[in-house]
Amino acid sequence: MRGLSTLALGGVILTGGAFAEGDALPGDPVAGKQLAGQCRTCHGLDGLARIPIAPHIGGEPVAYLVHQLTAFRDGRREHEMMSIVARSLSDQQIADLAAWYSGHSIAVEMTADPSAAPEACVDCHGADGLALIPDAPNLAGETNIYIDTQLKAFRSGKRTHEVMSPIAMELSDQEIRAVADWFAAINISIEQAE
Ligand code: HEC
Ligand code: HEC
Repeated sequence: MRGLSTLALGGVILTGGAFAEGDALPGDPVAGKQLAGQCRTCHGLDGLARIPIAPHIGGEPVAYLVHQLTAFRDGRREHEMMSIVARSLSDQQIADLAAWYSGHSIAVEMTADPSAAPEACVDCHGADGLALIPDAPNLAGETNIYIDTQLKAFRSGKRTHEVMSPIAMELSDQEIRAVADWFAAINISIEQAE
């Protein structure tokens, strides 16, 4: 489904004659798997994070992955590790990596009642932490450290996004802690694509 909509989008843009930023070159997951050798110490080949400060990226929406990798490469999102990793990636390599990691499937197991999920977040990130819109990431099972860090980065302006920045500015440290704990408590498993 995601693959199809990406192709459709690619087609529309091709007819338009130019590629917009962050947009959908068709990615090759086989080439992406090769490139993912550079990512595995931190994100695994299956996209299940190996270090607590790194997020799970397996099964994320393709558009989200393309957008973030492009942002790290172009300096719109900064991180001491990722800015270096992304610096030399071409648009095609980014599309290939996104095709590889988005091709995995993520499954969640709720330990709490989904109706208790943070109301301000569920429309986009889902009560089970799986994104409901293509430009939002999954939050399920990310460490509370990672979620906490990102919300504080949106709040301080270190990371910016038209939707998330104003949302984070309304949150106190305590509220950030509570939403981070909620999404971090969801158990996930990722099944790697072939
Ligand atoms: C040395 C460890 C390391 C390596 C190697 C690494 N990453 Fe990361 N990655 C991180 C960390 C840490 C973050 C969180 C950055 C932040 O806090 O903003 C991250 C964030 C990301 C994100 C953002 C995800 C999100 O949910 O916003 C993507 C996408 C990503 N990495 C993809 C990759 C890909 C693809 C590669 C290989 C080409 C790679 N990373 C290699 C450590 C690493
Ligand atoms: C209207 C949709 C929407 C709502 C509501 C929303 N988000 Fe987001 N969120 C997004 C989008 C889109 C992004 C991607 C931002 C980017 O591209 O940098 C995002 C990114 C994030 C990230 C970064 C995750 C990562 O992998 O790097 C966190 C953490 C987050 N949101 C938490 C929350 C929390 C907690 C709430 C509720 C208090 C919330 N969001 C409400 C749309 C939303």
